[in-house]
Amino acid sequence: MRGFLITFEGPEGSGKTTMARWLSGFLQGKGYRVLFTREPGGTPVGEAIRALLHAHEHADMTARVEALLFCAARAQLVERVIRPFLAEGGVVICDRYADSTLAYQGYGRGLDLEELRRLNRFATGGLEPDLTFLLDIDVELGLTRRRISGDAWTRLDALELSFHRRVREGYQALAAAEPARWVVIDASQPIEAVQTAILHHLQHRLSLPVPGG
Ligand code: TMP
Repeated sequence: MRGFLITFEGPEGSGKTTMARWLSGFLQGKGYRVLFTREPGGTPVGEAIRALLHAHEHADMTARVEALLFCAARAQLVERVIRPFLAEGGVVICDRYADSTLAYQGYGRGLDLEELRRLNRFATGGLEPDLTFLLDIDVELGLTRRRISGDAWTRLDALELSFHRRVREGYQALAAAEPARWVVIDASQPIEAVQTAILHHLQHRLSLPVPGG
């Protein structure tokens, strides 16, 4: 039986990591077999690539190298972790996935979207999410939240505001183009309202596998 792949996407400071973790715990509490993972990362190879991508010393990294490294980390995660877990009927919750490459390296950096889609297909072997939550937030509000969160300020966080605006608009365009897969949630709401919206859409969109099955 094939399980379910749920992804969380959004601009910086949208709270998607917190929400993805919370949903993992919630579903686990209901008896589901859940794997929470993140991109870039989730495997030793992926975490090493993440460190490379986030380091300020690599400020001159080209957009193509960036895209290839994100996809390399993704390929490792899909083949070694996500596919085996789905094959056993589990629910995988991933904090960022292929859409991040379209939003950041496509809309943000200006690389060709069709080329990136091909690259994503190569990296994932065509594995697409069953459901994707876009936690949408004003870019300045998100970056402010991130600054005060105490999380590391990465090479990508440090890019100009116009870059982050293009990323947000890119996400909105991706969600509008594929409404059957995406759910857009206003992430400026209080946490409880975001959680309620996530559960509401989850119940309406997915017939999750039987807990423990
Ligand atoms: P975060 O998940 O902690 O936000 O860090 C990941 C950073 O990498 C974030 O700035 C978004 C960026 N990113 C891309 O630019 N492209 C990608 O394909 C992925 C997965 C992340």
